[in-house]
Amino acid sequence: MEVSIDLEKCAGHARCYAASPELFDLDESGYALNAEISVPDGDEPAAREAVASCPERAIHER
Ligand code: F3S
Repeated sequence: MEVSIDLEKCAGHARCYAASPELFDLDESGYALNAEISVPDGDEPAAREAVASCPERAIHER
């Protein structure tokens, strides 16, 4: 599984990181740094929680 983040839509809510800190890297202002993230086996539930948690709908499962 992979997730992509539309960095143009990211508004720095940091809820993705709260849902799954091992998958998401943020800059010092709380904005997502990586547009493409490979989700290791077993981390899919946390990744889907992050997708659902983003208020900007910036994260998508691929
Ligand atoms: Fe950005 Fe959404 Fe995460 S706004 S920091 S991708 S929760």
